[in-house]
Amino acid sequence: MERKRILTGDRPTGKLHLGHYVGSLANRVRLQDEYECFFIIADLHTLTTKPEKEHIEALADNVRSAALDYLACGIDPARSVIYLQSAVPEVVELSLFFQNLITVPRLSRVPSLKEMAQGAGIEEMPFGLLGYPVLQAADILLPRAHLVPVGKDNVAHVEVTREIARRFNYLYGDTFPVPDAMVSEYGSLVGTDGNAKMSKSLDNAIFLSDDERTVEKRVMSMYTDPKRVSADVPGTVEGNPVFQYHDAFNPDKAEVEDLKARYRAGTVGDVEVKQKLAKALNAFLDPIRERRAKYESQSGLADEVVYDGTLRMREEARATLSAAKKAMGMAAVWNRVSRKAEDAKKKRAKGE
Ligand code: TRP
Repeated sequence: MERKRILTGDRPTGKLHLGHYVGSLANRVRLQDEYECFFIIADLHTLTTKPEKEHIEALADNVRSAALDYLACGIDPARSVIYLQSAVPEVVELSLFFQNLITVPRLSRVPSLKEMAQGAGIEEMPFGLLGYPVLQAADILLPRAHLVPVGKDNVAHVEVTREIARRFNYLYGDTFPVPDAMVSEYGSLVGTDGNAKMSKSLDNAIFLSDDERTVEKRVMSMYTDPKRVSADVPGTVEGNPVFQYHDAFNPDKAEVEDLKARYRAGTVGDVEVKQKLAKALNAFLDPIRERRAKYESQSGLADEVVYDGTLRMREEARATLSAAKKAMGMAAVWNRVSRKAEDAKKKRAKGE
């Protein structure tokens, strides 16, 4: 039986961090057997908030870095497709068709778009940013994906995709599956500073590519319970980022429970809790580092993975776009024009 399909991915804005891992990469790696997976590196989406040339110039390096992060985490190019969005132009055409199937007020209610504008210091909503979820719908429906593993902030975008797919199918006949979002059980990971979300721009991230020393430094300076001025003061575990990380990354549950109990009782220092966390994180990152080193040891290998994946995706894209145009009756428009024109040319050539 044919496997169902997944499409998901990221904007190539830089190195991926632990938040990306728990929020989505872990799911992706796990789902590779059960599903046929397509991972998009969505460079066109970066233009919605960063259209300046300097950002575009950084894309090629960021694409390679995203691909390396994927490969390092265990995404297997023999089973899954990693591809570059802007090198599959069919997505733009499909996106244009979709723009007519959803309204401006509907898109204006997608909360993440205002947040993205605000985050980028943009005062008035650009047309492209309003269309962000529409382009994402085209990403998802181009390989006719059934499942979209995403973070919480992207669930509203998948909802837009579902509405567009239903509307398309209603107007033109059954063409697209109506895909489901799959939200990771962890949601988002707190930053090392206790901020609600780990993010590169907040400088509170631990990157998947950080070396051992960097991870140690990051962990030792992590925000914990601010009321705990010394090791003999009982501390709070709930909402404490150090323990949230222990829960997410330390496989030794007995050790974590012991640390929590002693923390609450005021019989363990922050230093010990953090040292054990650094150790657990480094043990977690070691296999990721090994795979990264393997891919980096051959220059051009990561680019080759993206290149091959993109060629594969182009075949899918051509097939879907032509099915969509056929369903809409758009294919027939040019077909009729060209048939008439060719007939006319033939007749003239024969001197009729
Ligand atoms: N919107 C995603 C982000 O927040 C990136 C993305 C673009 C995406 N196209 C997608 C995610 C399709 C899932 C499916 O960076």
